[in-house]
Amino acid sequence: MIRARVIGSGSCLPANVVTNDDLAKRVETSDAWIRERTGIIQRHIAVEGEKTSDLALGAARAALIDAGIDAGELDIIICATTTPDESFPATATIVQSRLGMTRGAAFDVQAVCSGFIYGMALADSLIRTGAARTILLIGAETMSRLLDWSDRTTCVLFGDGAGAVVLQAHTGIGDNSDQGVLNTRIFSDGRLHDMLYADGGVSSTQSAGKLRMQGKEVFKHAITNIAAAIVASSEAAGLKIEDIDWFVPHQANQRILDGTAKKLGIDPAKVISTVALHGNTSAASVPLALVAAVKDGRIKRGDLVLLEAMGGGFTWGAALLRW
Ligand code: UT7
Repeated sequence: MIRARVIGSGSCLPANVVTNDDLAKRVETSDAWIRERTGIIQRHIAVEGEKTSDLALGAARAALIDAGIDAGELDIIICATTTPDESFPATATIVQSRLGMTRGAAFDVQAVCSGFIYGMALADSLIRTGAARTILLIGAETMSRLLDWSDRTTCVLFGDGAGAVVLQAHTGIGDNSDQGVLNTRIFSDGRLHDMLYADGGVSSTQSAGKLRMQGKEVFKHAITNIAAAIVASSEAAGLKIEDIDWFVPHQANQRILDGTAKKLGIDPAKVISTVALHGNTSAASVPLALVAAVKDGRIKRGDLVLLEAMGGGFTWGAALLRW
């Protein structure tokens, strides 16, 4: 059986760091409130002229070096982003050109904070069906460009960054001992649009708009939906929650990470958290957390890793991999 195996990973963060105290100079907030309600201490914010494609390219190059392959070996580039450089073409095609890749295909996926999980589901299908052998999957965002910097209920939560993995076809025996993606589960419910959306767009206002969120409502749905996705993915593989070595959640709020772990009886020591340092980087948050845990040696070859996310739409999902 063909499996999509991660052969390399990398990330890229803007050099510019913004602390909670820095934000307290712009809006009525405090380091204490942000830490207590979200666990966030700082976030990286792109400087003027620094675009989503710059961060995506940085993560892509790091992932290709880690994988030990050249861009010419890629069949497809998928970039999960809500903050593309331009309304068209896809940011993935900008990365394709800057990597010097002249064959194959490149396109974006839009599922907001769940974008990397959606991209993983797509990459896994393309590889398992034989449509592609090697895929570069990127989650990249400059969420700072979509924020209303006068709205303290949202502007303190988000950050910029990018993470990427290279997935390659690998022959397994078809059970859970295989390395690679074991399954993915993706969901959405468009009725919940008004809880988290951007109040603009090409066909409605001819501008990108600003992020709007009913935080308390999103919070409640987040724990329920993420827990359901984790259960769906682990049950599909015939595994119990305790069989999974690492949980790599979307990094929206430490209280969501803690709440989900409590609901499902997950050992908090198995939950990778980078929210304190990155804030919510939307589609980049899962790969940024994944790369951090791979680089510091927590996630090792052979470990069972469950990625999960939830975001605007609502969209949510999970991906189970043997690293
Ligand atoms: O990535 C997609 C998924 N997104 C999420 O998962 C976000 C989910 N939601 C959350 O993480 C939390 O709901 C928030 C962090 C957004 C808010 O936390 P909360 O505990 O739900 O606070 P709240 O909205 O109930 O606000 C409590 C109080 C309010 O004041 P009053 O009405 O009680 O007087 C807010 O006005 O805190 C106030 N407040 C702030 N105070 C200082 C809201 N934002 C701030 C702020 N600084 N930045």
